[in-house]
Amino acid sequence: MADSPITTLTNGVQIPQLGFGVWRVSNEASIPAVTKALEVGYRHIDTAALYRNEEGVGEAIRASGVPREDVFVTTKLWPSDFGRESAVDGFQSNLKRLDLEYVDLFLLHWPAPGRDLYVETWQALEQLVADDERVRAIGVSNFAVEHLRRLADETDTLPALNQIELHPTLTQRELRATHRELGIATEAWSPLGQSEDLRKPTIRAIAERVGRTPAQVVIRWHLQIGNIVIPKSTTPSRIEENFDVFDFELSDEDIDAIEGLDVGNRLGPDPRHFDG
Ligand code: A2P
Repeated sequence: MADSPITTLTNGVQIPQLGFGVWRVSNEASIPAVTKALEVGYRHIDTAALYRNEEGVGEAIRASGVPREDVFVTTKLWPSDFGRESAVDGFQSNLKRLDLEYVDLFLLHWPAPGRDLYVETWQALEQLVADDERVRAIGVSNFAVEHLRRLADETDTLPALNQIELHPTLTQRELRATHRELGIATEAWSPLGQSEDLRKPTIRAIAERVGRTPAQVVIRWHLQIGNIVIPKSTTPSRIEENFDVFDFELSDEDIDAIEGLDVGNRLGPDPRHFDG
């Protein structure tokens, strides 16, 4: 299958726009899933300390035969590890579990505003990416506009990327506009709305008309509006289906129709009130 398009982050690091997510995949199940994804052609895998599958993900990558430098690996720091020193210790633990020499992208998993540690933890990551060759780029996840503004005001660099919940029934228009203004790439988690959004009649009608599946239509929408996107599946045929999206295009009307499905349907926690 064709390769994923590439997005270049502000620090010049290149990330495949379509990646593979493994949230809610057990450590054991992550091995065949990541193995299949790499076979199909995915070259970007997204994990986190919280997912408790970094060992499996690392094992599948090492065993795949795909050169390490050809796979983009993201992992994340959980808020319980926030703080200047614990962030660095946390990073070492992520790497140890992955058993890889470096990660491509390291993210603060949630702002956890009640803990009020995300600014100093971001500064620890700024130091880490400057000093340590074992991390190529840093970013955040689940940051709302107010959290990004605070980093802009109080720290030296902005995140390369913000990974947020984003799917047809939660299109995050305001946050995407802020990202554009600040030069932050948008990455979508639960991009299929955990499969709920695939049942929307608008999506089904477009899928039928273009002769593709609802999941392919939604992934195509993400790619065309410029999102980095990480659908999750443990079903081999779906892992393949979700990567088979580079040989068709949605029209502007179809893109607009999908944007019109936004009803603010948040499936995960509200980052302004979640402390991990
Ligand atoms: P499964 O893992 O059993 O294949 P999201 O990435 O938005 O969180 O969505 C993940 C959910 O969507 C999982 O339940 C996954 O099921 C399902 N899913 C993934 N790909 C497809 C697909 N192509 N068609 C239907 N459901 C899918």
